Amino acid sequence: MSKVHIQQLSKVFGASSTNSVPALQGVDLMIEDGEFVTLVGASGCGKSTLLRILAGLEHHSSGSVICNGADIVGPSADRAMVFQHYSLYPWLNVMENIKFSRSLKANRDDITSADVEAASGRADALLDLIGLNKYVKAYPNQLSGGMQQRVAIARALMGKPAMLLMDEPFGALDAQTREVMHDLILHIHRIEKTTIVFVTHDVDEAIYLGQRVILMQPRPGRIHSIYPIPLPVRRDQEMKHSTEFRALKSEILARIRESSGMATDQDLLKKLNQTSEIA
Ligand SMILES: Nc1ncnc2c1ncn2[C@@H]1O[C@H](COP(=O)(O)OP(=O)(O)OP(=O)(O)O)[C@@H](O)[C@H]1O
Ligand SMILES: [Mg+2]
Repeated sequence: MSKVHIQQLSKVFGASSTNSVPALQGVDLMIEDGEFVTLVGASGCGKSTLLRILAGLEHHSSGSVICNGADIVGPSADRAMVFQHYSLYPWLNVMENIKFSRSLKANRDDITSADVEAASGRADALLDLIGLNKYVKAYPNQLSGGMQQRVAIARALMGKPAMLLMDEPFGALDAQTREVMHDLILHIHRIEKTTIVFVTHDVDEAIYLGQRVILMQPRPGRIHSIYPIPLPVRRDQEMKHSTEFRALKSEILARIRESSGMATDQDLLKKLNQTSEIA
């Protein structure tokens, strides 16, 4: 059974006909249980909107979005989100940040000490997984960007979500830290078997991480094409230099350029250069 089934999804922002923005139109997509899909496309093509609809943070205008057989009508602990900007609570240390969503649930009357113990065990295991067990008591401002994002991922995983929704989570990190984070998230995906939907601007990142790359195009936001990635499930950084990888990257980049109107910008640039040569 498909984990997610999106049919003829559209989203229009703005109520009046003069200021309405068709952010998504006619989106059809199935995501399998445990799949890792990446979303790429020109700025404004609706990637974040699609992710927010999957998270239940945004309502769609028409069509249907079904997760595990039920309509998505709002946020759920089963669908956790990780944003680009490290969204840790500055007044809580690493362990407290990771356990935060659990402590909200702990206010329920039916919580048992076994639940609390299990939560602590999971928090410890996640800290080991992200390699920050020496930083349990550190506060976010004492951590690097990469470390903060690792804590944000651990916090998202704390409730054992079936789906992890990530919106350019490594966008603010330097290239080297990003590579480390890529291998970490692949490792997490293998161990936790979470379905991951990952939005990025970086085509290398999309191909390296995804089992399928979903290419979207703007005005209105829709799916342009879907590329199954012909790389072995277990990725390693060397694969980025393979012929298949590079060919796919050029193909996707060319399609993004075409659909974003950047080709026209390039023509304009050429014209400008010619004019300055004449002058
Ligand atoms: N709350 C909102 N109100 C009105 N318009 C919105 C709102 N959120 C998004 N939009 C519009 O919907 C379209 C899609 O936006 P979205 O943020 O989903 O794009 P994106 O693909 O994530 O872009 P980027 O790559 O720049 O993050 C854009 O035209 C944007 O201006
Ligand atoms: Mg976005």
